[in-house]
Amino acid sequence: MNGIKYLSLRFGKLVTKNSTRVLRQKYLRQMSTMQNPPDSELKPQFTIPKGIVGQPTCHTHPHLVPHGHLTCGITQMEYKERREVLVSKLIGEVDNVHRSHVIVIPAARKQYMSDKIPYVFRQNSDFFYLTGCLEPSAILVMVKPATRDTYKSILFVHDKDSHAELWEGPRTGCNVAATLFAVDEAQPVDNFNNFLHRTVAASKPSVLWYHNETPANPDIHETIRSSLRQGQAALEDPQRALHQMRVVKSPAEVELMKETCYIGSQSVNMAMACTKPGVSEHAISSVFEYTCRMSGAEHGAFPPVVAGGPRATHIHYVANNQLLDPRDMLLIDAGCQRWLYNSDISRTWPVSGKFSKHHRILYELVLSVQKRLIELLGEQRPALDQLFDHMCRLLGTSLQQEGILPKNIDTNELIGRAYRLCPHHVSHYLGLDVHDAPLVRRRVPVCANMVVTVEPGIYIRPDDTTVPEEFRGVGIRIEDDVLITEGDPIVLTDACAKEVHDIEAIVGKQNI
Ligand code: GLY
Ligand code: MN
Ligand code: MN
Repeated sequence: MNGIKYLSLRFGKLVTKNSTRVLRQKYLRQMSTMQNPPDSELKPQFTIPKGIVGQPTCHTHPHLVPHGHLTCGITQMEYKERREVLVSKLIGEVDNVHRSHVIVIPAARKQYMSDKIPYVFRQNSDFFYLTGCLEPSAILVMVKPATRDTYKSILFVHDKDSHAELWEGPRTGCNVAATLFAVDEAQPVDNFNNFLHRTVAASKPSVLWYHNETPANPDIHETIRSSLRQGQAALEDPQRALHQMRVVKSPAEVELMKETCYIGSQSVNMAMACTKPGVSEHAISSVFEYTCRMSGAEHGAFPPVVAGGPRATHIHYVANNQLLDPRDMLLIDAGCQRWLYNSDISRTWPVSGKFSKHHRILYELVLSVQKRLIELLGEQRPALDQLFDHMCRLLGTSLQQEGILPKNIDTNELIGRAYRLCPHHVSHYLGLDVHDAPLVRRRVPVCANMVVTVEPGIYIRPDDTTVPEEFRGVGIRIEDDVLITEGDPIVLTDACAKEVHDIEAIVGKQNI
């Protein structure tokens, strides 16, 4: 049957050889044979300690972390190299290289729903990128004295504490953290205040690199501000350089992106298969999340949009509390997070399983624009802002050809009308954050090993009298995640059905 190739999941139980679990097992096996030096060959600074620590390791969780890796897919050496690259980039950024440099990158702190009830912890992406450490409220400090060419990495972590560990589970502790995270030194977080004051005071003139806006951990923000004042250090922001690194993925990160995109794709397919009239948006959202988690994702990448009919014209609709009407289309915007790497996928399909004439016209119009935009990424390597201009132009002319926008308007007016029908950007970078590396401008041309979304849409409000009546009350978005390469772009979410015949072959084929 057409489209059946997309349906390799049956509620998390994988039924074809092209399935996520098989893919994951193959991936883990490859990792452990190709990149699995015997312990004797690992340099001393790249040893993974054997005991139980504060996060999964290859010894305690071999089903999650391949041998010799600090986190799934990423070695201690890669984390260390990232720190080295960052330090040299930052020093190269300021005019006086003869100053001391102190770089402070805080972990996220725990967030609470109420009283002592925590949310699921999500590490700060910048901190994770440089350490692989999943501990809340840890702090990475890198110190490069003016008098030396080398720098030192110090990781502040919570020390062992039997009472706290009784409640929260094991901690890594200072004795093991230096080895595990391959840093020069580990110290208790309680030492951070004194350490920073002393270091900044002793190293005048110095530059303190710290992201002062939107602090990742407000608990230490004031300490850092007061060190700045007392030590008279110059404040600089490390985030722009860091995000320039993050936006270009390493080979290991590309593999992680492929995995999260594959799991997300199959989970959208499953949501499609479970769609029937009368089912709730909430149930479809649950199918998506269940399938992601059963396939190796930690959780969703963001609260999903599951919007039937005219609700899809509200771009951030997340209430997901209505029942599906057989006359409507259903728009999903959802993704998953696997080892902190995110996918971000949108698809739109008919609740009945068969596109109506007018829905199909609109859907195919968005689909052809989306495919052309992906081609343009390969042909022209445009900046994402240029891709947005292309989208407005392509949408405008296609809508005009279909008689949905009037023929008698000039190009500027046409682009303006298209923009009103798709008021969001067509693309963002993707990776450790859904809107990844936000300090990298969308004005720079894309380059190999970036992952970007391509997500044109059309949203026609039910009361939009500028559009023929039969097209009103519909929201359509098609979003894929695309790896830029030296050659053609690779659609990492191509396991997710998007052709009309594939969608029609899948919708409603699975009972909930
Ligand atoms: N789901 C958020 C976005 O597409 O940007
Ligand atoms: Mn997106
Ligand atoms: Mn999205």
